[in-house]
Amino acid sequence: MAYETLIVEIEDYIALIRLNRPDALNALNSKLLSELAVALGEADKDDSVRCIVITGSEKAFAAGADIKEMSEKSFVEMFGEDFFARESDAIMRTRKPIIAAVSGYALGGGCELAMACDFIIASDTAKFGQPEINLGVVAGIGGTQRLTRFVGKSKSMDMHLTGRFMDAAEAERSGLVSRVVPAKDLLTEAKKAAAKIAEKSMLTSMAVKECVNRSYETTLREGILFERRVFHALFATEDQKEGMAAFLEKRQPQFRDR
Ligand code: HXC
Repeated sequence: MAYETLIVEIEDYIALIRLNRPDALNALNSKLLSELAVALGEADKDDSVRCIVITGSEKAFAAGADIKEMSEKSFVEMFGEDFFARESDAIMRTRKPIIAAVSGYALGGGCELAMACDFIIASDTAKFGQPEINLGVVAGIGGTQRLTRFVGKSKSMDMHLTGRFMDAAEAERSGLVSRVVPAKDLLTEAKKAAAKIAEKSMLTSMAVKECVNRSYETTLREGILFERRVFHALFATEDQKEGMAAFLEKRQPQFRDR
């Protein structure tokens, strides 16, 4: 499928989705976010995709929601459209693993989009921020909630109240990103991580996502119970038998997503 604001390539079981509005540092407008929702839905359905990587350009993952598009909107329009709610929920509905490969600016909605992915690999040029306060608004697609869970209250308040940017080293130190790599290696490293994930059983990867995401939604006791039940349930799959047999037979497992 051809998109106006995205470039999508599928190769070796990895869907690489590149945000592509170079003139606006990949600012997230309605077109881009609705195309992203469609692309994620398509990748989720496509048997030739086992992991998704979302990336931007070298200069910007995304510099936030499109300020030109939003600036003149009224409350009635924002509320009536439920601005970006459906589009941003699409990423939460995606069951296959999603890696954000971030180079340059990931600001406002761009930082929020990266945080909504399953994990973030950053280039050493990455800059994260929630500068909405400079525009007289707050984050609108999860930033106050997700950044606080990632980096704790003090740093999250600092970022949201001052609007300052965090560099890649600070982002790694604070637990916002899983790894930092040299800018020139970003896509290679993201694809390597995606290829590792693509080797696993898709059933198990989806189960991991459900379990880890549950930790944000519930108490420790309930989360542990949920995890235990999922663990038990996976013994109904052929992939559990194959994974354990392969270990015992000292060979690589051949998972079949069953
Ligand atoms: C629209 C944007 C944009 C944005 C950059 N551009 N960010 N357009 N919306 N968020 C455009 C600029 O207008 C400019 O277009 C071109 O991209 C290049 O940007 P420059 O500012 O010239 O580049 P530079 O000087 O390198 O500065 C980079 C920057 C700065 C620091 C990232 O662009 C910036 O501060 N952008 C805004 C960041 C921001 O406030 N994000 C939060 C948005 S609110 P022209 O046509 O002039 O060349 C948000 C809310 C999310 O995200 C919740 C939604 C529900």
